[in-house]
Amino acid sequence: MLAWTKVRDEADGFDLVEHPVPLPGPGEVLVRTRATSICGTDLHIWAWDEWSRANVPLGTITGHETSGEVAMIGEGVDGLTVGDLIAVECHLADWSCPRCEEGNAHVCEDGSIFGVHQHGAFAPWFVVPAVNARPVPLGLDPALASVQDPLGNAIHTLTGGPIEGATVAVHGLGPIGLFAVNAAKAMGANKVIAVDWDNRFRMDMAADLGADLVLGKDDDVVERILEATEGRGVDNACEFSGSPAALNNAIRSTRMGGFVNVLSVYGHQMTQVPMNEVVFRYLHLKGINGRRMWSTWDTMHGLLERGAIDVSRVVTHTLPVSEFKAGMALAGSGECGKVVLTFPAW
Ligand SMILES: NC(=O)c1ccc[n+]([C@@H]2O[C@H](COP(=O)([O-])OP(=O)(O)OC[C@H]3O[C@@H](n4cnc5c(N)ncnc54)[C@H](O)[C@@H]3O)[C@@H](O)[C@H]2O)c1
Ligand SMILES: [Zn+2]
Ligand SMILES: [Zn+2]
Repeated sequence: MLAWTKVRDEADGFDLVEHPVPLPGPGEVLVRTRATSICGTDLHIWAWDEWSRANVPLGTITGHETSGEVAMIGEGVDGLTVGDLIAVECHLADWSCPRCEEGNAHVCEDGSIFGVHQHGAFAPWFVVPAVNARPVPLGLDPALASVQDPLGNAIHTLTGGPIEGATVAVHGLGPIGLFAVNAAKAMGANKVIAVDWDNRFRMDMAADLGADLVLGKDDDVVERILEATEGRGVDNACEFSGSPAALNNAIRSTRMGGFVNVLSVYGHQMTQVPMNEVVFRYLHLKGINGRRMWSTWDTMHGLLERGAIDVSRVVTHTLPVSEFKAGMALAGSGECGKVVLTFPAW
């Protein structure tokens, strides 16, 4: 098979390279890829920043947000059948360490990431542990099914605090922030305040998705959020921008005893945080990683099955996988929601 592979120690550095079709080992399934969406992580690997150079071995087929059909079942696998449409949970766990045993397999002490540390899904075929192949809610289009990883990130972040009847602020309107606006409304938030810096395209998308107030760089974000919440601040602030300024705004515009949930990864290890605000205002400041396995997936499937979330409103571009490099450029430009690469059906 021909697969997009990180082959050179430089920015871009991807080629279409011939690999053998992998075979499923015990407990694994072989999947025929239908769609793989482009994540911010893929853009980091494309840019070949310090983190990517330390984590992604040259020769890796990347791509981790994916859906496809089960094509072959390894020894000892129950509950999946050839032809099932599945989406991948990219956090691979050992299911035996103390974190897995306490129900936190998303932060397994011996975990790795499909499509980052090992071969992934910018390829027509891939192998994953059967438990990571999650059957897709009936009727969901494969291109839309591939985005459950970032949609699940958004839902996991939101569920770090109250949602139903609550005021929610979403800081950073990349694909994950846009999913969060959509999900917060679907989960019954009383008011959703969406904040970006200067990305007009995404701010307009947030308004279309039902955000009650959309703010940007020309606004005093903290003041405007306080005004919109009777001077209290929001119940639940979610940070998806990766900007320390946004994290500071989030902390300063959350109510006493409120919740600040941070999915973002910051470019600088030592991001400044107004810690006394966190302490004296009794904030719950929480880091979020991945998706809970499997309660985030269950919540997400419930929302998708009820039609409460319409993923197609955030997926702005669908390109054939042959357009991989154009897809990367588009995702990097920011003039988009989610960009999905599709593979031919059988
Ligand atoms: N922890 C995890 O498991 C996990 C998983 C996936 C992604 N992430 C992180 O989540 C974040 C969101 O990912 P994405 O792909 O949706 O993001 P993205 O980079 O596509 O979008 C970020 C958005 O934030 C906006 N922004 C910049 N400065 C801002 C500011 N001061 N205030 C408000 N908005 C501002 C940008 O204009 C942009 O639209 C990233 O930091 C990513 O690395 C974490
Ligand atoms: Zn991702
Ligand atoms: Zn573990």
